[in-house]
Amino acid sequence: MQELQDRFGRRFHYLRLSITDACNFKCQYCLPNGYQPAGKSRFLNLDEIRRVLSGFARVGTRKVRITGGEPTLRKDFEAVLEQVAATPGVERIATTTNGYRLAEQAQTWFNAGLRQVNISIDSLEKDSFARITGDSRFDQVMRGLDRALEVGYDAVKVNVVLLKGLNGDQLPQFLRFIRQTPVDLRFIELMETGLHHDYFQAHHLSGTVIQKQLLAEGWRLDPRGADDGPALNYSHPDYAGRIGLIMPYSKDFCASCNRLRVSAIGKLHLCLFTEAGIELRDLLGAEEQQDALVARLHAALGQKEATHYLQDGNSGATPHLASIGG
Ligand code: GTP
Ligand code: 5AD
Ligand code: SF4
Repeated sequence: MQELQDRFGRRFHYLRLSITDACNFKCQYCLPNGYQPAGKSRFLNLDEIRRVLSGFARVGTRKVRITGGEPTLRKDFEAVLEQVAATPGVERIATTTNGYRLAEQAQTWFNAGLRQVNISIDSLEKDSFARITGDSRFDQVMRGLDRALEVGYDAVKVNVVLLKGLNGDQLPQFLRFIRQTPVDLRFIELMETGLHHDYFQAHHLSGTVIQKQLLAEGWRLDPRGADDGPALNYSHPDYAGRIGLIMPYSKDFCASCNRLRVSAIGKLHLCLFTEAGIELRDLLGAEEQQDALVARLHAALGQKEATHYLQDGNSGATPHLASIGG
């Protein structure tokens, strides 16, 4: 079967599948007023998830990241992981979570097939964490991180959205933390979404600020692998952890785009920002529709743009990233 490729020669072995847009945290940059249910939205059920996964696997998907909202809010989260694990061709199963269930579930999810976990921890200071996320479960999330390290996941990453005036000056704490702890810390530049023009203006901080400090302290850029996404990764011999910079406003960020997204209501997003989503759900009702699904995926790839045009002031049709899974 022909693998997915776009007009620019980029290949897509990585699917990010959102299974809910609900979240129980209130991160300022994402869902400032908490989760507002969008009427009677109904998320893909397990059968639909199985079919979307098997369609993507037929056109080359090797890695699946389950996202949200907060994906672990779904009662069938473990069954979803098992479904991914049972999909022929999928070799790597990852999730991105706020970490609130990790302390209790890390082993269960590992047993279901999960191998990589990214946890959002925007500050290592309890008060600052609470201010940014609107949630006081800092200790619980940190216990979850410890548990994930004990259980032996292949990768444990910590996501930090860089925010001027909030955590932008906390690099020293983060560096102290990864001196002995083998996590990949990733600093993500705040992205402007539809609902967040003013917030973006007030808090956007360029990742190059962190980049300069790292280079000055002896951190070095790792060689890029063929399957690497847009993050730039840095290492230092004195540190157990590594640092990734996700800088969507930097030149050529999109040149290494290797991922596609499916939202919780079954729309294909070729990019976080460029289009409103291509319907897939009408092709997820029965096994006989798999050929049609594959054909639609190939046709859709022809529409993928070279870049998100964020640097030109585009904030796209995306109101917030929780609806697409970041
Ligand atoms: P890996 O699978 O470990 O490479 O991680 P990831 O960066 O793909 O996953 P994660 O869900 O932890 O991503 C963190 C955040 O980085 C996302 O939610 C986005 O906010 C941002 N990000 C990741 N990939 C992209 C991308 O392709 N484009 C843009 N604009 N942002 C991205
Ligand atoms: N800009 C940058 N990162 C964001 N995330 C959510 N919204 C934004 C935004 N506007 C991040 C979260 C989480 C990941 C899934 O996406 O912090 O780590
Ligand atoms: Fe890919 Fe869009 Fe992210 Fe660029 S912004 S790397 S095109 S998903």
